[in-house]
Amino acid sequence: MPARPMTPERVNRRWLFEQRVDGPVGDHNFRWTEADVPSPGEGEMLVRNLWLDIAPTQVLPLLAAPEEGGMTPGSPMPGYAASQVLETRNPRFSRGDVVYAASAWEDYSVIDGTGYWDATKVPAGVSPELAVGTLGITGIVAYFGVTEVARPRPGETFVVSAAAGGVGSVAAQVAKILGLRVIGIAGGKAKCEWLVSEAHLDGAIDHRTEDVAARLDALCPHGIDIYFDNVGGEVLDLALGRLRPNGRVVLCGTTARYRQATPPPGPSNYWQLIMVNGRMEGLLGKDYFDRFPEAMTALKKWLDSGQLRAKEDVVVGLEGAPRALGRLFTGENVGKQLVKIADPSPGLGRS
Ligand SMILES: NC(=O)c1ccc[n+]([C@@H]2O[C@H](COP(=O)([O-])OP(=O)(O)OC[C@H]3O[C@@H](n4cnc5c(N)ncnc54)[C@H](OP(=O)(O)O)[C@@H]3O)[C@@H](O)[C@H]2O)c1
Repeated sequence: MPARPMTPERVNRRWLFEQRVDGPVGDHNFRWTEADVPSPGEGEMLVRNLWLDIAPTQVLPLLAAPEEGGMTPGSPMPGYAASQVLETRNPRFSRGDVVYAASAWEDYSVIDGTGYWDATKVPAGVSPELAVGTLGITGIVAYFGVTEVARPRPGETFVVSAAAGGVGSVAAQVAKILGLRVIGIAGGKAKCEWLVSEAHLDGAIDHRTEDVAARLDALCPHGIDIYFDNVGGEVLDLALGRLRPNGRVVLCGTTARYRQATPPPGPSNYWQLIMVNGRMEGLLGKDYFDRFPEAMTALKKWLDSGQLRAKEDVVVGLEGAPRALGRLFTGENVGKQLVKIADPSPGLGRS
């Protein structure tokens, strides 16, 4: 990737999708280009992208051929971002607003505010990085996954995978705040240390160096009431086999299998759901879109009081976006993976 000056005026630096993912994800899957800054049409707005939300599912359209629903080479790489409105022909948003919206890996985008979930205005007092991280879909999914899908009772044992990642770190801390006994599973010593010393979990298991089954037995001697699953695969099976009566499994994500061409065999311990009268339920953040403000209010209150820590892993510069996506699959990210492109311009004002 060529060295470029940071944010040249009115040149739109962008990453286009170039080559299907077939192994590690990185610069080689994309093409860096420069283009003119586009103009908004009726109902649209021109935004300056400030912070990119980097999420594991962004790899899915990069795996398949276009005829199988994958992205066409040469297309701009889509993604959610916190962006500032520079020009607007959309009555819902004003110049200067910071929005959390479907955008792309580029300096400037023309967006219409629609997408998998529609654009929301970032409230004053909320930073753009919080808006794409702990107070974005990441935190909202974690919040409703714990409060609505798991429906926890104080004192229950809660286990979460990818616990030091974006969703996992929020889910773990929300469960802790609600009075549960929380065990996190994560890859590496540094992540496990953070979970215990800073997120105040009751225990952490390093799946890279420890026997996860033996550690689950040691840390959850009476079994697991709630398993919040971000990765799928073998750990899901281990958790299912240890479910307690009326145990719940929250299916949030399957990062372990996003890049697998052939689906792995299903979990063999699913029968345990029968034996314990358990429940395994999927969670789609999109379904809670109308309740974003409710989650945001609760999470913000905990952030302000210091009960909840926002853990962010920031790659600085648009140039680093492909590398940031790759980090999610090597496990290098600690906390929510973000890319910082620019600060909001105070001169534009924020309504
Ligand atoms: N349901 C929804 O609406 C919704 C919305 C947002 C996100 N999600 C899902 O939530 C999950 C977490 O998303 P996130 O953005 O917070 O990502 P993340 O957990 O911060 O990052 C991915 C993490 O997954 C782990 N990982 C990577 N490859 C793995 C593999 N082969 N096997 C096991 N673990 C692996 C790594 O953690 P370790 O190093 O600790 O293993 C890595 O840090 C994802 O599956 C995502 O798709 C779901």
